[in-house]
Amino acid sequence: MKRVTAIYPGSFDPVTNGHLDLIHRGAKIFDELVVAILRNPEKDPLFSVPERREMLEAMTEDLPNVHVDEFQGLLVDYARTRNAAAVLRGIRAISDYEYELQMALMNRKLDPGLETIFMMPAEKYSYLSSRLVREVARLGGSVEGLVPPMVAERLRSKVNGVTSSK
Ligand code: PNS
Repeated sequence: MKRVTAIYPGSFDPVTNGHLDLIHRGAKIFDELVVAILRNPEKDPLFSVPERREMLEAMTEDLPNVHVDEFQGLLVDYARTRNAAAVLRGIRAISDYEYELQMALMNRKLDPGLETIFMMPAEKYSYLSSRLVREVARLGGSVEGLVPPMVAERLRSKVNGVTSSK
């Protein structure tokens, strides 16, 4: 029987409840879902890739068909190494659509055999992004309900300068 693997790529800096909502939805429809963190040397992230990976692994340990990995370079090349048939991306609002469509069509140009599947997170997460979470945390606001408690704790430590493992 054919098993369908999908890649859920992203920066996940840090993982939010919106990402987790999408991971749970994806895990229900794909045989295997690989959450793939982009190693992007051009970006200056708040959390290092190992830190982001650790948080994602902790948050998905109850999902046996979800695996966390890292990649660099083209997503289509990485997807091929995992034998993936699809890329999963979340669309929160119409404003996401243009960028996501552009990426999906570029990926299709690069690999016509790889499909992009869009899913919508719960409406209560439609305004949520890692960028806003970082900003709120940096400015001392509460991120309760936006990220899992473990991530909120790591954010607090990070913005208070308690850890410096970057
Ligand atoms: O969470 P993000 O930052 O919106 O994720 C963007 C990501 C990682 C999906 C995208 O930047 C990506 O796929 N980068 C890999 C490079 C690539 O394949 N580029 C060409 C296709 S658009």
